[in-house]
Amino acid sequence: MVLPISSPRTTTSLKAWARAIASPAQEFSNTALPVLAGQIPSGLRGSLYRNGPARFERGQQRVNHWFDGDGAILAVHFGDSKATGVYRYVRSAGFEAEAEADALLYRGYGTLAPGPIWKRWQAQLKNAANTSVLALPDRLLALWEGGFPHQLRLDTLETLGLDDLGQLTGDEPYSAHPKRHHRTGDIFNFGIVAGADATLNLYRSNPQGHIHQKASIPLNGIPLIHDFVLADRYLVFCVPPVRLNALPAVLGFQSFSEALLWQPKRGSQIVVVDADSLEVVAWEQVDPWFQWHFGKGYLDIDGTVVLDVVAYADFSTNQQLREVVDGQIHTPAAAQLRRLRLQPTTGQILDDRVVVDQHCEFPQVAWSGEDVALAPTYLSLHAPGRDATGELLSAIGCLDPVSEQLTIVDAGVNCYPSEPVYAADTESDQGWILTVVYDGNHHNSEVWIYRAEALADGPVCRLGLPQVIPHSFHGTWQSAA
Ligand SMILES: [Fe+2]
Repeated sequence: MVLPISSPRTTTSLKAWARAIASPAQEFSNTALPVLAGQIPSGLRGSLYRNGPARFERGQQRVNHWFDGDGAILAVHFGDSKATGVYRYVRSAGFEAEAEADALLYRGYGTLAPGPIWKRWQAQLKNAANTSVLALPDRLLALWEGGFPHQLRLDTLETLGLDDLGQLTGDEPYSAHPKRHHRTGDIFNFGIVAGADATLNLYRSNPQGHIHQKASIPLNGIPLIHDFVLADRYLVFCVPPVRLNALPAVLGFQSFSEALLWQPKRGSQIVVVDADSLEVVAWEQVDPWFQWHFGKGYLDIDGTVVLDVVAYADFSTNQQLREVVDGQIHTPAAAQLRRLRLQPTTGQILDDRVVVDQHCEFPQVAWSGEDVALAPTYLSLHAPGRDATGELLSAIGCLDPVSEQLTIVDAGVNCYPSEPVYAADTESDQGWILTVVYDGNHHNSEVWIYRAEALADGPVCRLGLPQVIPHSFHGTWQSAA
C-alpha cells in the first residue's frame, strides 16, 4: 500500500545514502560544470546519460518500493575539455497527472494505488521511466521494463512522448537492458507480456532503433526477467524461479512485488534463442538462482557460450531493494559474480565458477571492438574494510580478464558511486570510467572520471553538479559523432 510520509529521514541512525532520496530531486537546465580537481581528458568527447528514480512522493504519500520513483535523467555533455550537465524528470503521462493532482494516482511495481480496494483494483500502472537509457543517433530512450520507452531530446532531455520503435503495439513492453550486436550494430531486446502464462517477446531493431523483427516465446507462469545475454549467434535467457501470484496482484490486494513468489523447486530455466531466426534452440532446467543482471557474454572459439551472471541464492534482494525507499535497509542479500559455460545447442551448463566472491552488482564490460573475452569488467561493490550492514554499494572495481584479479576503489566514507560506465577515448585507444558520486558528507553530487586502466590511481577529474543526483540504476555513453 501507499505509505504516508514518515520520519525515518530525521532519525540520526540513518546511513548517509538515505538523505539523497529523502526529498524529490531538483532539476537543472544545461549548466557548465565546475572542475573541482584534475582536468577533463581532451579525448573524452560525447555524452554520459544516467537514469534512476528521483521522486518518491506526492502530496503526503510516499511510494513503497525503490523501483517506483519517477525517473529522472542526468546528461553530462563533454567536449573541448569542458562539460555541461542537465537533469530532467521524464514527463510521462503519469508524472504529469500526479503533479497536477499533487497525489499518487497509480499502482507501481511495489506500490498499491491509494484508496479503497475498488480504486486500487481499477488503478492503472504508471510507467515510471526510471531504469535505463538507450542512446540512439537522433533521440534518447528512457527505458522501463513494464511499458514503452519514452523519447527524449539528446541535448536538453525534453520529453517528446512514448516511442514505439516503429513496431511496438498496445501491450508490448520494451525492457531496460537492450543489447547491441558487436558486428551488425543491431539492437536486441525483449519484453514480458503478462497473461495466464506470460509471453517472452523478442525484438530486433536496426542501429537507428527501428524494429524489423519480432518473435514470441510462451513461458510457464509469469516470471520476472530483467536482463539477458547476447552472445553473437545466441540470445540466452535465465528464467529464475520467481512467479507472480496473479490474482491478488490483479485485484489490488497485493502489489506486484509482494505477489512475486520464490519457488526454487522450479529451478532456473536456461532458454537459448537463435539470434537470426529468434527461435528457441534449447531449453534446460538447472539449479535455482536469481539474477537481475549479466556481465559479459560471448561465443567462445569452441562453440560454447560464456556468460557472467550476478547470482543471488534467493529473491531476498527484492525486499532489500524495497527497503531503500524507507531510508533503512534491514534485509541482507548478497550476490556473487559467476561465470557459466553453456552448450548452446542443449542449454547444459558445462562449467560454473565464482569469479567475484563478494557482493557486487551492475557489471559493465569495457568492450571497444576487441575480443570480448579480453575486455575488463567494471562493477559496483562494497568498500573493503567497512561494515556493509544497511549500506548501499560504496566502491567500484575492475575485474582483470586475464588474471581475474579484482581491483576495488573506495569512494570514501559516506560516498556512493553509481554503476561505472566505460567511455572510449576519441584520440587514443585508452578509455575512461565515469561514475556519479553522491557525497553524503556534504550532501552533494559529483562526476568522477577515472583512467580505465588505472582505477587505483583515483579520479583524474572531479566535476561538481549543481544538485544532488539520487542513486541511479543504469547509464550509457554516447561518443561524439
Ligand atoms: Fe537493471
